[in-house]
Amino acid sequence: MPSHDIDAVRQQLLKRVEASETPRDVLRAPEFKDLYSAIGTLSPEEKGPYGKAVNELKQAVEAAVEARTMQLESGDVIALDVTAPWDVNSSRPAFLPTNEGSQHPLTKEMDTVVNIFTRMGFDAVESRQIDDDFHMFGSLNFPENHPARDGYDTFRTEEGFIPPAHTSTMQNRILQEGKAKLEAGGQIAAISYGRVFRNEDVDATHEHTFHQVEGVFVSKDATLGDMLGTLRSFFEVYYGQSLRIKTQPAYFPFVEPGLEFQIEKPAALNGKPGEWLEMLGCGMIHPNVLTAAGIDPTVYRGFAWGGGIERLVMLKYGIEDLRHFESAKLNFMRKFA
Ligand code: PHE
Repeated sequence: MPSHDIDAVRQQLLKRVEASETPRDVLRAPEFKDLYSAIGTLSPEEKGPYGKAVNELKQAVEAAVEARTMQLESGDVIALDVTAPWDVNSSRPAFLPTNEGSQHPLTKEMDTVVNIFTRMGFDAVESRQIDDDFHMFGSLNFPENHPARDGYDTFRTEEGFIPPAHTSTMQNRILQEGKAKLEAGGQIAAISYGRVFRNEDVDATHEHTFHQVEGVFVSKDATLGDMLGTLRSFFEVYYGQSLRIKTQPAYFPFVEPGLEFQIEKPAALNGKPGEWLEMLGCGMIHPNVLTAAGIDPTVYRGFAWGGGIERLVMLKYGIEDLRHFESAKLNFMRKFA
């Protein structure tokens, strides 16, 4: 092999070492084998200088591998900036391909839920992620220092603000804003949806951060029957089949009567007859809640409900562990892409 070929191989191998994250691999490059096997084809005079040139090449590559290894180990490489929307590590910055990403399953399902209710005629507002004592408790008929407040495991900032533990934190705003509609002879029909927070020990069925959807309806003649019909319709559309429902009494300071709403787990989702699942809390809006929003409870009446989104989604897809949603695990996310 002529010496200019050896030079060409040398250039190539040194370049490869420079670019490699595992530079030692270059020492096993097939080019070395080719160089050694060429020795057998040379005349005795050629063998000496050729051998010397190959040896020098080998030493140069070894030195480069050593240098590159040290460079990698000392961290003297551009750190991956995961917050940049483009590839900062490439010499020619390009935006990352959007087809690599997908919507989070909760975002998708939340869209579906909001869509069903808006098609039924409900306005939709996103729930706040920071609020105050009045909206989270006071306006919802929780007496000061009442033990019912403890049931919500609320976080609180040093300044006394509250990352809301339920979407009911929006009820007072929805009622105040809808008052004019009522007075004009209309009705209030709105949902609030979004992230809520509770100081919970995390396990397969408890998270400190989860999502809820809440409904508020007020008119002159709203009934509990209207509420049950609305909820049943929602669940039947969401699960795409007819469902059996039932209720049992429950206590929430902001409704009277208060109920727990259950559906029978459908056979299509591995349910057995008589297997009831609690889906949400609901009831007729307490007169004190209407009064707190300036609505006369002797003229108007309403119903409200609220429940977790994760629970809905887990049942729909047979997801067993609530923690998957906040885990950022790609193999979980990609099942919904
Ligand atoms: N806010 C209640 C909860 O999170 C649910 C609820 C909403 C109950 C509206 C009744 C009416 O537990």
